[in-house]
Amino acid sequence: MNPSEQDPRQRLAELRDRLHYHNHRYHVLDDPEITDAEYDRLFAELVELERQFPEHVRPDSPSQRVGAKPVSRFVEVPHEVPMLSLDNLFADSDLMEFDRRCREGLGGEEGIRYCAEPKLDGVAVSLRYQHGVLQRAATRGDGRVGEDVTAQLRTIAVIPLCLAGEGIPALLELRGEVYMPLAGFEAWNQAARERGEKPFANPRNAAAGSLRQLDPQVTAGRPLQFFCHGVGQWEGGNPPATHAAMLEQLQAWRLPVCALWETVVGVAGCLDYYRRMEAKRASLPYEIDGVVYKLDSLVARERLGFVARSPRWAAAHKFAPREVSTLLLGVDFQVGRTGVLTPVARLQPVSVGGVMLSKATLHNFQELLRKDVRVGDTLWVRRAGDVIPEVVGVVWERRPAAAAAIILPTHCPACGAVVVQAQGEVAARCVGGLACPAQRKEGIKHFISRRAMNIEGMGERMVTLLVEEGLVQNLADIFTLSEHRERLIGLERLGEKSVDNLLLAIELSKQRHLGQFLFALGIRDVGETIAHNLARHFGTLSQLMLADREALEGVAEVGPVVAEHLRQFFQESHNIEVLNRLRRIAGTHWWDFPSSPPMMESQPLAGKTVVLTGTLHSLTRQEAKVRLEGLGAKVSGSVSDRTFFVVVGESPGSKRQRAESLGVRLLTEADLLSLLESKLMPDGC
Ligand code: IVH
Repeated sequence: MNPSEQDPRQRLAELRDRLHYHNHRYHVLDDPEITDAEYDRLFAELVELERQFPEHVRPDSPSQRVGAKPVSRFVEVPHEVPMLSLDNLFADSDLMEFDRRCREGLGGEEGIRYCAEPKLDGVAVSLRYQHGVLQRAATRGDGRVGEDVTAQLRTIAVIPLCLAGEGIPALLELRGEVYMPLAGFEAWNQAARERGEKPFANPRNAAAGSLRQLDPQVTAGRPLQFFCHGVGQWEGGNPPATHAAMLEQLQAWRLPVCALWETVVGVAGCLDYYRRMEAKRASLPYEIDGVVYKLDSLVARERLGFVARSPRWAAAHKFAPREVSTLLLGVDFQVGRTGVLTPVARLQPVSVGGVMLSKATLHNFQELLRKDVRVGDTLWVRRAGDVIPEVVGVVWERRPAAAAAIILPTHCPACGAVVVQAQGEVAARCVGGLACPAQRKEGIKHFISRRAMNIEGMGERMVTLLVEEGLVQNLADIFTLSEHRERLIGLERLGEKSVDNLLLAIELSKQRHLGQFLFALGIRDVGETIAHNLARHFGTLSQLMLADREALEGVAEVGPVVAEHLRQFFQESHNIEVLNRLRRIAGTHWWDFPSSPPMMESQPLAGKTVVLTGTLHSLTRQEAKVRLEGLGAKVSGSVSDRTFFVVVGESPGSKRQRAESLGVRLLTEADLLSLLESKLMPDGC
């Protein structure tokens, strides 16, 4: 039936269901089934029908996420079931004691089964669903009374406005954690610094600050996420018997549950999980500050009960802190690829979570002045996830009387050119351009890096060596290195074999497609996405170089600023010279031929969805993702019957079982490596 002939109420219900379904696939499963444009069309139809029939607008409609008016204050909400806190375990002996108490409380039972989960470093909230519809969201507050943040929580896309599936109870009150992923936190802080505003101290504060906004529109603009980790109240229907079954049930109703949970047995199982999570911590996209062990049997939990404000059946096993204090020996100013000067604190080496730190970023001049850092100070420094270590602040009580203020350089430490700070910009830059050896070296490092031209065997140290030897002055020189084979073999630490491998890698890099090459050029503000959009839009480098501002602004995500940077880059005579040399000596294909054909040939996984589970040893999850994407794959977080294959690392999660039950092909880490190397699928695919 044509939608316009349908009963509007029925069509509205259909649109709501479809939009909820696709919202879940996109935001929670990271595995969309329809394009953004198709989603937008459905959404526009819903909004238009609701405009015509306002009496049929329901609070759980996808159109009702954002738009609530600002409140003047937060209303208090009592928690019918108090939101307790967890006892902390710091040493292995604390864990043994916890397990002993559980065993004793359960009448001497051996080998207790726990459900182990990461302890998310966010803000605890309660969500109340009545007949599957989100009615109220509240902060923890003091555990007995919290604050109503319904309008704010509704703006978080992963939180379902209504649950879907079988057996939804009349009342379901959930507990979980709102958090800000590290990438969102970094991006937010970077933008705040550029606006000259005070950045958030850590992702937890960022999540809390974003939630406690009287205007929900402000919350809507923050990159918040949510994971559900328990149930406060369940009335009606059949509650599961174990926590593990409960988590599976919540997930089936479309609630986001952190996939890293596992059931483990006894102290040994708990410790093994703790160690694995600790090792994983740095590569997770969000912050965790420990793990939580919970008795898996919900009946057994009832028997154990509570002490004071924490349950006897659960405990948090904390990781060593990642914020430590150490002495500031001095501040160096590093010159980046685009000439930006970054102050870097030189520290007395200190161990943070098992990694030695001797440097930490101070971001920019403004941050350095704001933090009022002086040589001789003791500083708080921190490592968060994969992020570069940073200076958090000064330990004021420890400031010596003779602490020396830092003098900001007026001239570039690498080339002596003037340092300028453009109006409205936080960054201070060296004006030396490509005459500055530091900028040149950084530009070359970027060009050869994995995500750009991916010239294997030419790491940072090799670039430094080649630049210092005068063999590489600019990007085009990389492609003349084959003329200097003998000289290269004579260089320190380089043998015949590694030189030949390097020259081969350089030769192979000529096969990269235009998007990678454009990203590799390191044009200001042209990241991977924009580079690929430009490649797709213009097809050839010649076409792109001819484009005027208007044509450039017609490309997805290119605004006036990026368009201007592109124009400037392609007008600068030195750049034209290097590009012309590249064309002559490298003879690369992307100048006049659209790059899609070679791109497709090098993309054996184009259009395929693949999933990673478990720990990989020879590369990080992010690396695996990027490299699989380089072969055209879409890397998804969940397994479905359309998944092409699942890469199974050590200690895989439930995704492995799901893949097995759906008959999806499993690949080992070794299979993955050979696939990445040869671009050929292992037998049987
Ligand atoms: S269970 C009875 N599981 O840690 C307590 N809490 O001190 C039930 N938290 O404010 C809490 N990750 O919000 C639980 N996987 C997890 C958690 C978690 C973080 C927070 C929680 C609470 C605090 C407990």
